Amino acid sequence: MNGLRFGRVAVLFVLGCCMMSVPGLSAQSATAAKGDLISLNRATSAAALPNGLELRDGEARVQITALREDVLRIRVSKTGKMPEDASWAVLPGSRTSSVATAYRAEGGKAGFSTKALQVWVDRATLAVTISDRSGGVLLEDARPVEFHGDHFRVYKRMPAEEHYFGLGDKTGPLDRRGGAYQMWNTDQYRFQESSDPLYKAIPFFIADNAGRSYGLFLDNTWRTSFDFGKEDSEAYSFGADGGPIDYYFLYGPKPKQVVEGYAWLTGLTPLPPEWSLGFQQSRYSYMTEARASEVADRMRADRIPCDALYLDIDFQDRNAPFTVNQQAFPKLPEFIQELKEKHFNLVLITDLHIADRANQGYAPYDSGAAGDHFVKNPDGSVFVGKVWPGPAVFPDFTRKESRAWWGTLYKEFYGDGAAGFWNDMNEPSVFETPSQTMPLDVVHRIDEPGFVSRTARHAEIHNVYGMENSRGTYEGLLALKPNQRPFVLTRATYAGGQRYASTWTGDNSSNWNHLRMSTPMLLNLGLSGFSMAGDDIGGYAGSSTQDLLTKWIEVGEFNPIYRDHTEKFTADQEPWVGGAEVEAVRRRYIEDRYRLMPYLYTLAEENSRTGVPMMRPLFLEFPDATADKHPLDLDAANQFMLGPDLLIAPAPYPEAPDSYAVTFPPVGWYDYWTGAKVAGSAREAVAVSTGAALGVGALQSVKITPQVDVLPVFVRAGSILPFAPVVQSTQEKPNGPLTLKVYPGDGCEGSLYQDDGISFAYKEKDFLRVKYSCESTSDGLRLHIGAREGSFQPWWNGVEVTIFGWSGAPGKITYAGQVIADSRFDGAAHSLTIVLPERAEGGVLEIGGR
Ligand code: NOJ
Repeated sequence: MNGLRFGRVAVLFVLGCCMMSVPGLSAQSATAAKGDLISLNRATSAAALPNGLELRDGEARVQITALREDVLRIRVSKTGKMPEDASWAVLPGSRTSSVATAYRAEGGKAGFSTKALQVWVDRATLAVTISDRSGGVLLEDARPVEFHGDHFRVYKRMPAEEHYFGLGDKTGPLDRRGGAYQMWNTDQYRFQESSDPLYKAIPFFIADNAGRSYGLFLDNTWRTSFDFGKEDSEAYSFGADGGPIDYYFLYGPKPKQVVEGYAWLTGLTPLPPEWSLGFQQSRYSYMTEARASEVADRMRADRIPCDALYLDIDFQDRNAPFTVNQQAFPKLPEFIQELKEKHFNLVLITDLHIADRANQGYAPYDSGAAGDHFVKNPDGSVFVGKVWPGPAVFPDFTRKESRAWWGTLYKEFYGDGAAGFWNDMNEPSVFETPSQTMPLDVVHRIDEPGFVSRTARHAEIHNVYGMENSRGTYEGLLALKPNQRPFVLTRATYAGGQRYASTWTGDNSSNWNHLRMSTPMLLNLGLSGFSMAGDDIGGYAGSSTQDLLTKWIEVGEFNPIYRDHTEKFTADQEPWVGGAEVEAVRRRYIEDRYRLMPYLYTLAEENSRTGVPMMRPLFLEFPDATADKHPLDLDAANQFMLGPDLLIAPAPYPEAPDSYAVTFPPVGWYDYWTGAKVAGSAREAVAVSTGAALGVGALQSVKITPQVDVLPVFVRAGSILPFAPVVQSTQEKPNGPLTLKVYPGDGCEGSLYQDDGISFAYKEKDFLRVKYSCESTSDGLRLHIGAREGSFQPWWNGVEVTIFGWSGAPGKITYAGQVIADSRFDGAAHSLTIVLPERAEGGVLEIGGR
């Protein structure tokens, strides 16, 4: 089935209110679509609930409740019987939390308020309006809720200035306004800009209207769709083929608060193993142990830092998961150990489809069959579909017991020391069927705490299947090694899947357009809960040109997951391919990634506490940057922030030789590579880094001439960034001081988080956290280095502080009251460097006489 055609048909169906049949609807949908149109358009009764309000329209029931002062839940039932109150996405504690609300009935309206929000329902129309406490409307129904058979659709007004972000890694522009999207996990090999649906279903978006934001999460696992004004320029809408109307409204007003609220609702990303932030090398496939060794050795010989190597499906015996091809990898356990000694982590692919090989000594099949763990056809026989191993059977991940069994399959590989696992093909992808997946009537037997034990059709489970697969892996690994942070890479997932796995954007292509498409995909994934995300660096399908690979490695340095991967039969794509000259450029960026590791890891830890993604659109950090408060990103295509302080500015069309403008949020900026101040001396600063000096004007925008070996990156004035000496792997102890780069400016601060990078000891306070701040004094600068929190011992015993934007030899320097005699002033770079002893209690560095 053509996903795009289907998507459009579904949207037409629901938006054309009176259409009874639509040519081109698939047989499956046509059946589901049977039934008269019902719209809920008046309240026959309204009653207060302790935490909200309930309305009726005849039999139908609408419940609006407050989970927090700023989070509402809206449930609608056509029949009056609320569906089972269970969720794969929403944390039970959040779903059941509630705050007391004040009910009011006035004129023809009924409503309630919380400390942050007001809700009014017009009894004559049943239209719901949500406002802030000063009456500013945030969300308003545009039309009555519609049911058509099992389908439903909800319509909201779409203000002219509102922009929409999220929905996972859908392609296209960062802003979803004007687009229509389907959520139906789909193996989209070589997806294109117009391909939809893709691998993931994350029915969550953030609306931003002149700096005021809210989030909307539709917790419905069926095929859902979202239309942001494609069919009706004044309304957006969302709906599903079945399942409940159950959605959450998360108020900001700042977009960061929405992101944090969504993490509160659906869960946080666990702190990842530090090595997963290192450079990762993969391909489909390193066919033999000798070849995999060769790649690892070349990394070390060429001094290209690298933390992980992947084995794709060919390491297995005839593609059967949890087996090993003994000819190609005769001593896998020894090989894993050898790699470990070279400080590589091995990641093994373990697809979910279990080869249908009964009585052939294939334990995953035999134990799965004995435990009755596979999904079934409606007639009770086990469903068999073709995937890489040929005929295969599929675990029922909606059963806790089956997930636990799945987890045990990792015992050997994990015991042998494999560091992480890759759950691919888990949409699930099934070959040689028009739907590319299993039939919608395949039976899952939900057996899960918090759910009624019941059977469910695949139509209901499809979108959560991949997430529950990665959950089985994550929880299984945790059970096998309770003190090691699991690393799972999943392709398909649903809202909340960030609790179990990192992800990547699937089978992209080796062309410039795909490099360009990646940035908005990763940004929207981050806004949708998935911070730990990356793309196939260099592109998957096709062979990369040297320049493309170089530029991709440059941009990838600033993405959370940094994995080079390519398809079978394509040209080699390791960083050395193309010769010493290009390799040197790529090495420079990969090395810089390792220098930046303390900052990256600090961001990953922040994400694990708050849900704020590592890679961020500009408006997340600077929601008020423009005069009318529209998201600055709309003027700054493909620019992005890594954390609060780094602004990455690849060319909007990365292959184009034309100069382009970098748009700056309105604070001061420094050039990341040189430390030169962009403010005031913008011309020189940009020229140093990029060789471009074209039309440098006001700080707000700078023209850059693209160069293959330079990625423009800038640092926010008022940042303090931690750096480490280069290592070849995060398992090496850095040799030398911690470097703090200080970029003076307003609100100057920074922080550093460290721990052992692999265990859960940090939960017992075995971590290190230091906060920094700086301020200008009458004649110089004062840097506060906070006392170390936590018991983790640092790898450094000295701190090298470099202050940028410094204009002359310093006067007296003291640290914690002691005079520091040595300092290094670099007139050309306008920087001052001072080496300090490490002090657990921190101290104040005073630099006078600037
Ligand atoms: C599809 C995945 O998307 C790709 O990354 C992988 O190499 C192949 N499956 C083979 O396992």
